[in-house]
Amino acid sequence: MPTPTAPDDPQRVLITGASSGIGRATAVELAGRGASLVLVARGRESLEEAAAEALAAGAAAALVRPADVTDGDALQAAVDDAVAEFGGLDAVVHAAQVMAYGRIEDVPKDVYEQVVDVSLHGTANVARAVLPLFRKQGAGHLVVVNSLLGNIAAPLMGSYVTAKWGQLGLIRVLQQETRDEPGISVSAVQPGGVDTPIYFQGATVTGSTGRPPPPVYSPQRVARAVLSTLDRPRRVVQAGLLNPLITAGFRLVPGVFDYLVGPLFKVMAVANDQVAPTEGNVFESKPAGNATEGRWRSI
Ligand SMILES: NC(=O)c1ccc[n+]([C@@H]2O[C@H](COP(=O)([O-])OP(=O)(O)OC[C@H]3O[C@@H](n4cnc5c(N)ncnc54)[C@H](OP(=O)(O)O)[C@@H]3O)[C@@H](O)[C@H]2O)c1
Repeated sequence: MPTPTAPDDPQRVLITGASSGIGRATAVELAGRGASLVLVARGRESLEEAAAEALAAGAAAALVRPADVTDGDALQAAVDDAVAEFGGLDAVVHAAQVMAYGRIEDVPKDVYEQVVDVSLHGTANVARAVLPLFRKQGAGHLVVVNSLLGNIAAPLMGSYVTAKWGQLGLIRVLQQETRDEPGISVSAVQPGGVDTPIYFQGATVTGSTGRPPPPVYSPQRVARAVLSTLDRPRRVVQAGLLNPLITAGFRLVPGVFDYLVGPLFKVMAVANDQVAPTEGNVFESKPAGNATEGRWRSI
């Protein structure tokens, strides 16, 4: 394997959700370019592991800054640390999220609200912490990892669908509100099914955890889509082969979509692993479950 070479002027990137899945894979991909990284998630333990992987992959630096994205002050402190350490930030990749399975009427109210909060208030907090810095610099790129479920609806994932539709609306507003500063970009990446731990880390009241629907992408493949978006800002980037087809079906033939989505969900999106109701990692980090990959075959 070729030894990564550090560029003279490393890209400075803060990543939220950096201790698992897509965020962690993005950290390692950026490390291969010799980037200087700030890694944010709630739990320190998995962040330290991600930082060690990033340094081994060639990162110029990997700061570990535990923070909950629903805590605006903690997030601001992480951004301030990045500026103190690196002199600024070129980009922020926002990938922090939690998930819950169950009908809206069955998911406990506090679990539902936390899933939505992490997405909506978390993204707003990220914007409040980084956009003033980007304006001061006259440049900066915010990439938010959204989802195919920001375009379509699926049963038993109501909190997550609410979270991702709302987050996409927020991203689109941020894109409009930063048009006055041509140096600033805001992009969304919408993955389809990805092999990450989110499916078994989340809350469930259905008797089972979930699994990624096919075609299942590897987190590295989505991370490469994030890097390509960092290189070339776009409003919304798809990271799923069937995303355009599924979204078109949802929009153009909603009756057919709703008829099929329930049965298909049972076959393709449920793990059938018989688990007792759990809050999973919704309220606190579960480091034992954090990893780059989940447990599925991916392309
Ligand atoms: N996996 C998929 O199939 C898929 C598909 C479409 C979209 N996405 C999106 O991709 C992004 C990454 O998901 P993933 O699959 O990589 O999930 P993941 O493996 O579970 O990683 C989630 C990350 O977010 C962190 N996190 C959770 N709540 C947080 C909070 N309140 N504050 C700060 N950090 C928090 C977690 O660490 P701690 O728990 O230690 O805080 C972890 O680092 C999410 O936006 C997700 O919606 C995933």
